[in-house]
Amino acid sequence: MKYLIANFKANLNHLDIINWLEIFVPETQKNTQIQQKLQSGEIKVVVCPPFSFLLPLKEKISGLTGVVCGAQDISRFDNGRYTGEVTAQSLQGVVEYAIIGHSERRSSFSETESDISQKLHFCRQYQIKPILCIRGKEDKIDPDTPIVCYEPPQSIGTGDNLSLDETLKTKKQLPLTPKQLFFYGGSVNAHDTHQYRANPEIAGFLIGTASVSPTDFLALLNAV
Ligand code: PGA
Repeated sequence: MKYLIANFKANLNHLDIINWLEIFVPETQKNTQIQQKLQSGEIKVVVCPPFSFLLPLKEKISGLTGVVCGAQDISRFDNGRYTGEVTAQSLQGVVEYAIIGHSERRSSFSETESDISQKLHFCRQYQIKPILCIRGKEDKIDPDTPIVCYEPPQSIGTGDNLSLDETLKTKKQLPLTPKQLFFYGGSVNAHDTHQYRANPEIAGFLIGTASVSPTDFLALLNAV
């Protein structure tokens, strides 16, 4: 199975999301190639909108097999007096996955390894599967986290994705357990996934820019 994680980041507003769903849902339903991949478990899609759009999005995709919701982050706190925070407990049953430790959180929000450990802990406590993002071998990998996504910062949003060879070279240097799934993220688009498609070592992709347009994202679903 190949996982495709759509990370909208803070790119879309309410009307954009409605428009995205109005294209994505019917096209996914009627495209027999995509349907076959989703139904057979060849691919799984996780859509990660901003928190405020999670519930309406979840409702709209509820009829699609193999398409689920994810969060772009969760709080490092449990429920309590933390104004503005969105906790794992509040997302339990809403999301199946959460992106944790994205390099944009580490750089723009000074997220530390200790914050990330807390977030992984709460994911576990509230049955949310974390997708732990790392920038390279300098970042800590919790051996109990089920998914590790390598995202070289120089490849994020630049159009300059890393080659399969370089990705696999880094993968070899990471202390991964045999059970951990390895994902790649950084300028993944429909035109260059062929190099990864047949490779069993890459279990999934984190997709930013190419997920913002529903047609680009559908092209990726077709291509993978
Ligand atoms: P990108 O973003 O596809 O725009 O490079 C990937 C990510 O940051 O998750």
